[in-house]
This record gives sequence, structure tokens and C-alpha cells, in this order.
Amino acid sequence: MAEIRIISLRKIKIGSHVQCDIYSKDGHLIFKKGNIMTEAIIDRLESMGVTRVLVEAGTVELVDDESKKPEDDGLPTDNIKEYSETFMLKKEFEQGKDALLNKDVDGAQDVALSIASKLETSNDIKKELDELKYGTEGVVTHSLNVAVLAGAIAIENGFAPKDIEELVVGGMLHDIGKLYIDPNVLNKKGRLDEKEFEIMKTHAEEGYRKLCDNRGVSHKVRMMAFQHHENNDGTGYPKRLRGDQIMWEARIIHVVDVYEAMTAKRCYKDHLLPGDVMEFVMGKYSTMFDIKAMDMFLKTIPAYRKGDIVRLSDGTQCQVLESNPLNSLRPLVVDLKTMKVMDLYSDRNYLSKTVTELIVKEGEVVKTQ
Ligand SMILES: [Fe+2]
Repeated sequence: MAEIRIISLRKIKIGSHVQCDIYSKDGHLIFKKGNIMTEAIIDRLESMGVTRVLVEAGTVELVDDESKKPEDDGLPTDNIKEYSETFMLKKEFEQGKDALLNKDVDGAQDVALSIASKLETSNDIKKELDELKYGTEGVVTHSLNVAVLAGAIAIENGFAPKDIEELVVGGMLHDIGKLYIDPNVLNKKGRLDEKEFEIMKTHAEEGYRKLCDNRGVSHKVRMMAFQHHENNDGTGYPKRLRGDQIMWEARIIHVVDVYEAMTAKRCYKDHLLPGDVMEFVMGKYSTMFDIKAMDMFLKTIPAYRKGDIVRLSDGTQCQVLESNPLNSLRPLVVDLKTMKVMDLYSDRNYLSKTVTELIVKEGEVVKTQ
């Protein structure tokens, strides 16, 4: 899982040397790597309306010293009890959890194949994707979510059945190396030191090795575990591969892995809205992620969906009429007061407007800042 976090701007320690570029929630670069954070900079950013920022874990010193806190991957607390009864894959998630916790690769593969076949016959994959947000904690739930998301991308983009299956299995097993990480490191609640961070990073290679021990696992699936933290520009790990050197399937898992990690409730007190994550992901177009994999991802998982009630930057409350496959942050909406339809993507009159809030349901409002 990529170590990317959303933090409150006020959590960054004054005087600390920031070792990563910092982005605002709308994807703008607001702070250059290598500079020192000052009170004045924080004040200025706050005056611009920036209160939460996206950073890479371990590169920013935090006030409460939690910068290198890993995701709550504590296996003992992993559970999937919050899934609704209507969730089509509920049974598979329960079985998949058992298989993964027992490090049962064959069992996990069987469950993944069952997930793939259910997804292929599903009339409404996107409804199933909606259920994923109810997942709670840990590497197991993350793996199951990634499996379903990867399968959905494969189906939405017309992959052959064999390729769909392999992506689902790869999603299920991509982080299996984490199950072999020293629990004291994996479950550590406080700051990971550099050495512990290096240990965490070994999960990609470790997972690959464990999967090589099982003859029933395909080469592609093994490589998805090995390469899912490689970045398109060669800055990833473990081999710092770039572009075409990274197996195509691993590039898809990489995008899904980051997206799932950032939207999951388990990660942070303030888990990100899909729109926030999408903006971050789009900001990493071609640096962290492969462009083609990103396009397939965006086609499958829109930031705002038909029926969502959103607020625009000018305060108007709108309903999404259609999500936009070309830019999922700029859907077709209708102003609920005037009933004027606005195409935020192609109509020049509305280019200055952005979606700033997502009103989830029954009037519950989640602010994006
Ligand atoms: Fe990972």
C-alpha cells in the first residue's frame, strides 16, 4: 500500500524540513519539497482556504510525531462486519478474510475466482463498489477491496475473462507479503523509524517469494505482488522500475491500491472523499501512475456519481446528472434551485466552478476541506 496521507495543515511541525511536494485538495502544488515549513506559510495557506494537505508518509515531521504511522494494518482488529446484507460479495469477503489470515494462497485464489465470476455476471458493478467503502480495518479488507476494484476495472474496460480473473487474484494477493512482516512493525501504532520503514517495504518482494512457492499461482499474479509499488517515473520500490518495465497488470493494481488505501475509513481519522483522492491521483498522472491504467481507472470509478448531491464553489447546491468519463471531477449537474443544467467539463461558462462538497445522503454534509 502506498504511504500517502492526508493531514491537517496544523499537524506539520513548524521549522521542519519537508521532504515531499505538498498538494492542496484540488491538486495544486502548494509547497515545494525541500523547503522549511514556517508559521507564515501555514497562515498564508489557511487564508487560501487550505486546511488539509496530501503528503507522503515519513517525509513530513508532525507535531505529535505520527508522520510514519502505518495504516491500521493490525490483523487482530481486521473485520468486515460493516458490510450490508445486500452486498453481493459478502460471503466471499468472509471466506477471503479467513483464507488470507491463514495465509492460505490456494483458498484465497479460489475466493478471488468466485469474486471474478460474480462480478462478471453482475448487472450493477458500481453498486457493489459503493459497498466497499464500508470496509473497516487492515490489510485483509484492503486486499479484498483491491480485488473487487481491479476486477471492476477489467470488466468495464472489456478485458478477456482470463485477464479479469488474474487481476482479481492479483488484487487479492498483492499485499500477502505484509502477513509475513514482523507484527511489531506491521501493527506498530507509533512512528516507524527508518529501519522499520525499510522492513515494511520488503513486503513486495516477500510476497513475490511466497507466491513463487505455490505452483498454482500464475507468473502475472506473482509480479503484481512484486511490482505494485513501482512508480511510472522510476521512484518506486523494490527495483525502481519505470514505464514499460513494470508489468501492465501491476500498473493497474498500483492505482487501485493507492485509491483504496486513501478512501478507506480505516486509514485516517479524516478519511478522504473520493473526489479528494481522485484529484490527488490525477495529480500523479504519469509520475506515479501509468496513463493508460489511470484512464481505465477513471472510466470505472467516477469521483461523483449520478444522483449525488454536491455543492459548487459558488455555493449552489446541485445534483449530478451524469458522471464524466473524461474528467470525473467535472460532472454534468443540475442546479437544484434554478434547475439549470450545467456541464462543468465542456461548457466554458462554468469552467471556474468546482465541486467543493459532497452531500452524501439525507442531508448529511461532508466537507471536503
Ligand atoms: Fe503493498
